[in-house]
Amino acid sequence: MSAPTPFDALTPQPADVLLSLIALYRDDPRPKKLDLGVGVYRDDTGATPVMRAVKAAEGRLLETQGSKSYLGPEGDIRYTELLQPIVFGFGRAMPADTMVGVQTPGGTGALRLAAELVNAAQKNAKRPGAKVWLGTPTWPNHAPIMTSAGLTVATYRYYDQATQTILFDEMMSALKGADAGDVVLLHGCCHNPVGADLDQAQWRAVAEVVAERGLIPLIDLAYQGLGDGLEEDAAGARLVLDAAPDALVAYSCDKNFGLYRERVGALYAKGGTPARTALMRSNILLLARVNWSMPPDHGGALVRVILDDAGLTAEWRAELDAMRTRINQVRQALAAGDAWLAPLGHQRGMFSLLPLSPEQVGLLRRDHAVYMVGNGRANLAGLTLATVPQFIDALRAVR
Ligand code: LMR
Repeated sequence: MSAPTPFDALTPQPADVLLSLIALYRDDPRPKKLDLGVGVYRDDTGATPVMRAVKAAEGRLLETQGSKSYLGPEGDIRYTELLQPIVFGFGRAMPADTMVGVQTPGGTGALRLAAELVNAAQKNAKRPGAKVWLGTPTWPNHAPIMTSAGLTVATYRYYDQATQTILFDEMMSALKGADAGDVVLLHGCCHNPVGADLDQAQWRAVAEVVAERGLIPLIDLAYQGLGDGLEEDAAGARLVLDAAPDALVAYSCDKNFGLYRERVGALYAKGGTPARTALMRSNILLLARVNWSMPPDHGGALVRVILDDAGLTAEWRAELDAMRTRINQVRQALAAGDAWLAPLGHQRGMFSLLPLSPEQVGLLRRDHAVYMVGNGRANLAGLTLATVPQFIDALRAVR
């Protein structure tokens, strides 16, 4: 028997709702099971292959990499330089003295770093309790990342699941009531979990209120290229980034380069003045150092090798185009297959939030071997044109 220790005071935590689906699905012996759970892309054989451009880059890296010595808290500088125009736009030069880019462990690392930077700034500015605004529903990790970094989360309703509509008026009135210096977290594209993105007029209106109220946008851009195209998917976010003097982008290459477990992300911070940007940069580097010292290298190095080579970049873009086309074909087949699913045809990215109860999601799993998140989120990339009818039948059986 061991005497009580502080660890006895820990409270049990539930398993992560998304990640626990991986094991549940894997352990189901039924041959016709469907995995619409965690957000990974699948091809029309149900596989999540390593992209060809990534394989080729791995070969080159194996041949040419001469050292695995430390790089520094900013990670691979060339990686963030090459990625920057994809995020902010080619030909839209960002002055180097008002822009910071660092490599992070996935988009999650970028969000964490952004949250800690804001918290450090707000503590020094004596603004305790300054808020980060989240539209609900949102990725279940958003609020815990923000609160565990010391920020206060405020929410507004972004989406009505029953009617499959964006509640834009509610969003605007929340943002109009936000205080200067509050952070507003926005999904850049392919909203996770609802799949419904703002249109350009709505983005423009958000950009205006962000500028008027002095809000700090934090754009979570984790699915660029999987909606309508690389440029199209960043267009709305760029309106907001242009409108705000200070802005943050948490970027992930995990999906659009298929690098999931390699954890490849970046945090970009735009500052209104060179002096402020220098402060942001030194604090970001310190926070990276205390969190992970430096990011894992391999995945960022692969993205760098691809983006530094015109041929590999073209191959990557073609593969990304094919992924997007396949997802959108599945969306169109679902929308055409059942009037109840018609809204899915206008949504983008891998996810939709179907108007299903947790009980119905449970029945889908128990009786039809369909694995989805309990709130009704479906990763449509887990379907193929061949399995769409099976999914529609299962939905009809539980509705
Ligand atoms: C998802 O939402 O399924 C993905 O972003 C995976 C994750 O880390 O939650």
